[in-house]
Amino acid sequence: MTDLLRGTVALVTGASSGIGEATAAALAAEGAAVAVVARRRDRLDALTERIRGSGGTAELIEADVTDRVAAEGAVADAVRTFGRLDVVVNNAGVMLLGPALDAPLEEWERMVQLNLTGLLYVSHAAMAHLLAAADQDPRRVADMVNISSVAGRVARSGSAVYNATKWGVNAFSEALRQEVAGRHVRVGLIEPGAVATELSSHNRPEIRETIQQRFAGVERLQSEDIAKAIIFMVTQPRHAAINEILIRPTQQEG
Ligand SMILES: NC(=O)c1ccc[n+]([C@@H]2O[C@H](COP(=O)([O-])OP(=O)(O)OC[C@H]3O[C@@H](n4cnc5c(N)ncnc54)[C@H](OP(=O)(O)O)[C@@H]3O)[C@@H](O)[C@H]2O)c1
Repeated sequence: MTDLLRGTVALVTGASSGIGEATAAALAAEGAAVAVVARRRDRLDALTERIRGSGGTAELIEADVTDRVAAEGAVADAVRTFGRLDVVVNNAGVMLLGPALDAPLEEWERMVQLNLTGLLYVSHAAMAHLLAAADQDPRRVADMVNISSVAGRVARSGSAVYNATKWGVNAFSEALRQEVAGRHVRVGLIEPGAVATELSSHNRPEIRETIQQRFAGVERLQSEDIAKAIIFMVTQPRHAAINEILIRPTQQEG
């Protein structure tokens, strides 16, 4: 454990698997007290046990962030438990691909509700706390890190609504960044390419097959690769803001 985030509090959404889980562990290893948010309580339980077993501090918050009251409650719980909020990682997301023509509308609704609306609920609830932390020691700066995607920069056939949600995350993040930059809240974007997580498992079988074929022969990123990028972003000195990190597997072309 290092001490770069000692005395700070972080909240990570979607911490029960993949990028969020690795990020929560990495933030705790830097000394942050971490509130881990998702719906699967058993997975969060295992994560908090692991963090505590390594000498870190973690609290689980079972919440569906697409529910406005639950999202606001998750932020409030974190602040009630740890007294402040210095870092928010808006990571919870779902990717349901396939042709837009005749796509199940329910899939589009799930993506918009989680990737956009859920992120907005958490951001809205967290912002006052981040502004307060940015006025306080030990860092006098605070961070919101929003997990977008290569899909937030490159639109592809078969990815229309996922693209739309991640494009939305990018636009929201940049506009918000400009609003709060002068008050020492940094809003950063992480844009991963293919990472080996559960993300594609929620797709219909024929779509899973297409995704598998697209990345056949590509060695995917690991969640820890993304966690490292996030730690790099949030451990910069107060005067430096890494606004955006695009990170692909070496072999990923598009
Ligand atoms: N993997 C990739 O290739 C890749 C590439 C680019 C960007 N990303 C982005 O990275 C982020 C994390 O994805 P991942 O790859 O780590 O996938 P993942 O393993 O499927 O993780 C998704 C996380 O979101 C949580 N979640 C889902 N619905 C939720 C809800 N309603 N409320 C709260 N939490 C919810 C899940 O937990 P519960 O089910 O327990 O709630 C899970 O912890 C997403 O935003 C994704 O778009 C991933």
